[in-house]
Amino acid sequence: MLYRTLLRPLLFFLPPESAHRIALSLCAHSRAAGFLRLLLPPSPSGLERIVWGLRFPNPLGLAAGFDKGGVALGAWEALGFGFCEIGTVTPLPQQPNPAPRLRRLPRSEALWNRLGFPSEGAERVARRLARRRAEQKWPNFPVGINVGKSRQTDLDRAADDYARAFSLLRPYGDFFVLNLSSPNTPGLRSLQQEAHLRTVLEAVAQTNPPPPKPILVKIAPDLGEKELGRILEVLLSGPCDGLVATNTLPTPGPGGVVGGLSGRPLTKRSTEVIRFLAQESAGRLPLVAAGGIFDAADAQEKLDAGAVLLEAYTGFVFRGPSFARDIGHGLLRGRS
Ligand SMILES: Cc1cc2nc3c(=O)[nH]c(=O)nc-3n(C[C@H](O)[C@H](O)[C@H](O)COP(=O)(O)O)c2cc1C
Repeated sequence: MLYRTLLRPLLFFLPPESAHRIALSLCAHSRAAGFLRLLLPPSPSGLERIVWGLRFPNPLGLAAGFDKGGVALGAWEALGFGFCEIGTVTPLPQQPNPAPRLRRLPRSEALWNRLGFPSEGAERVARRLARRRAEQKWPNFPVGINVGKSRQTDLDRAADDYARAFSLLRPYGDFFVLNLSSPNTPGLRSLQQEAHLRTVLEAVAQTNPPPPKPILVKIAPDLGEKELGRILEVLLSGPCDGLVATNTLPTPGPGGVVGGLSGRPLTKRSTEVIRFLAQESAGRLPLVAAGGIFDAADAQEKLDAGAVLLEAYTGFVFRGPSFARDIGHGLLRGRS
């Protein structure tokens, strides 16, 4: 309530990237997690699930992109998320795309972005995570790490980038997501095609000795059934442990430049993708659903469609700090 009436208008008054920077640095403060726990009611219990042998306190995680460098893990746990996915992390540091990069579309409950993987690079993120571990400030929930290729790397060498970022970060992630579907890195989405997909998966698998970390692939929302079927075939026959569906939808923004649309306009489409994948894979591949989750009904719909875990970014921006807890309580109420 306080978020919608006071905090959100203040944050939405600022340019979106500034609002994000402020929110993230508040969450990254060393006392943020303790403060949030004091301020917010306890997270609901009874939603625990085990996937890839990992214990998730509840199925809703923070989607990739919000905390690209893994600076605020404790805050995501304190806010009631059941896990977080940091990244996208690229092997080398890189700057964002030129502006315009991020727009709010409040009437559509959507965001449009073409950030293009601003990243501190895998070495720096790995050092931060190592420090956190050493200081025993690791959260008590699974941490996923999303990796991507550097902007300047040719598609033919992309597999090396994924393997490099993965091997640097491997000690710190509980599971990994290969981002092959951002519309904001030229050519990246074509890595979803069979030959590239196999090459990337095999390169990563070679740097994943036993006990292997779970490797997931993140796909786009605008693939047809034929393309989805082909992707599933490769994933089911290769070294892959799950799928994240979906990334943002390529959409023209200011001046006609293409970026990715997220939030409410994606709700239905991403659920359809999950439903199709669940039917075709018949439970052989854990599915993580992302795209337009704003409340418990959206979350339940994606679970009913066959997802085992959920992720959200835009809903969190629009609904604020009580977002994950509200969904948790709503899911529990729906069961009784
Ligand atoms: C501003 C912004 C930045 C994002 N950055 C990334 C990213 O770095 N890597 C990634 O895999 N997905 C990224 N995403 C996509 C989200 O993780 C998610 O898949 C998508 O937004 C759909 O979920 P939502 O409707 O809950 O936002 C980003 C989304 C937004 C809005």
